[in-house]
Amino acid sequence: MFEFLQQVDCKPAPFEFYTAETLWNDEHISQQMLKFHLNPDLEPASRNQGFIEASIDWMKERFGIGPNCHIADFGCGPGLYTLPFAQLGAVVTGIDFSRRSIVYAREQAFNKGLEVDYRQQNYLDFESDQRFDLISLIYCDFCPLSPAQRKRLLGVFHRHLNDDGAVLLDVFSLQAFESRQESTTFQHRLMDGFWSEQDYFGFLKTMKYEEEKVCLDKYSIVEEARQWLVYNWLQYFSLTSLIREFSESGFEIAEYYSDVTGNAYHEDSAVIALVVKKARKAG
Ligand SMILES: C[S@@+](CC[C@H](N)C(=O)[O-])C[C@H]1O[C@@H](n2cnc3c(N)ncnc32)[C@H](O)[C@@H]1O
Repeated sequence: MFEFLQQVDCKPAPFEFYTAETLWNDEHISQQMLKFHLNPDLEPASRNQGFIEASIDWMKERFGIGPNCHIADFGCGPGLYTLPFAQLGAVVTGIDFSRRSIVYAREQAFNKGLEVDYRQQNYLDFESDQRFDLISLIYCDFCPLSPAQRKRLLGVFHRHLNDDGAVLLDVFSLQAFESRQESTTFQHRLMDGFWSEQDYFGFLKTMKYEEEKVCLDKYSIVEEARQWLVYNWLQYFSLTSLIREFSESGFEIAEYYSDVTGNAYHEDSAVIALVVKKARKAG
């Protein structure tokens, strides 16, 4: 008991453990996540429906989404963006490691008579002969990745982007980091049965890493037969840190906004949305 509580309490090094697959692929948890995605008002997994519609409208104009536009949506989930892109006539690939989300997305495309190339895989390993005009990574999915994983993902983007193509992504800002607070919660059936269909007790310990601008929500779940941990990391960014990180991977930031509906950037925004292009070669 004492040792387990020590484990619950311990603060790992930033990004020491990666458990994202549990969150999106565990039989029970992925079912909860899909419910969140499909609820038009709740935002734990996707943004609300009004926001998504505004985002698609803006992206359509900004990136000329239509026939002949090749799009790869990384972390596409159940297809809330890929399906509208396909309805606009774009040639769409959706990549996600959540089996449940990809099964749902494929069904939706089939029912609507639309073709989307869905790949169920870790997007860090994505390989294709195709080159894309637009690569999207929406709802701050860059933030749970470690610096090494982000570098790897930017390499994947660079190899698969047309020379005049663009990457659209959003990230949490330092303003959002400031609003986070360290805390510890202990609760029977923490988050109302979200973590297991068995009876369980859950600890949530939120930890901040001031120097690295990282937050960890560490969930320790105790069922009668097992104990397990989920680590939800989030990296928070300034414009300066983004410019540095993208330039190290051969990109330049062409535009920035306060969200992916194209709202103007302001310093208090909790989110920074970026349009990124391949850096022009000198000379
Ligand atoms: C916050 S959700 C956003 C989904 C979608 N972009 C949206 O806004 O509706 C993040 C998605 O990324 C997927 N994901 C996270 N890490 C991934 C990885 N390494 N490889 C593939 N998919 C990943 C999850 O399964 C989940 O569907």
